[in-house]
Amino acid sequence: MQELVVMVGLQGSGKTTWVAEHLARTHAVVSKDHWPHARRREARQRRVVAELLAAGRSVVVDNTNPSRDERAALVDLARSAGVPVRAVWLDVPLETCLQRNAAREGRARVPLVGVLAALDRFSAPGADEGFGAVEVVR
Ligand SMILES: Nc1ncnc2c1ncn2[C@@H]1O[C@H](COP(=O)(O)OP(=O)(O)OP(=O)(O)O)[C@@H](O)[C@H]1O
Ligand SMILES: [Mg+2]
Repeated sequence: MQELVVMVGLQGSGKTTWVAEHLARTHAVVSKDHWPHARRREARQRRVVAELLAAGRSVVVDNTNPSRDERAALVDLARSAGVPVRAVWLDVPLETCLQRNAAREGRARVPLVGVLAALDRFSAPGADEGFGAVEVVR
């Protein structure tokens, strides 16, 4: 069945790893991180997700998606397309995220301020945001 999956979790929490294991064969993976230098990355991501949903594809958005506002834009896209939407939350301790990030090489390593900025915006995803389900991965 077609669906939209919204990943939620700090940098280093394991989202991309989880997507590769669970969804990469069945879902189109969209991430604005794939276009680090593009202007208006948020708008571009929304457009790509909308196009894929309209084409009948299942989609997973692999970003930190830490705030309700950021997730609301994606929930709206799913609702407009008439497609169910669920969240998958990598609920991993900050310390673990920082350790995994520190172990990354070169440009894969995210600056600490980036992790702290996501932490600052973070709120736990809830069904009241319009998700049909919120799956918590620990
Ligand atoms: N369950 C796990 N146990 C141990 N290490 C893990 C686990 N999941 C991921 N990792 C490792 O942690 C690091 C970060 O994982 P990953 O790239 O999947 O995180 P991410 O949430 O996608 O981060 P970002 O938001 O920066 O893209 C990688 O080196 C990965 O191999
Ligand atoms: Mg990732």
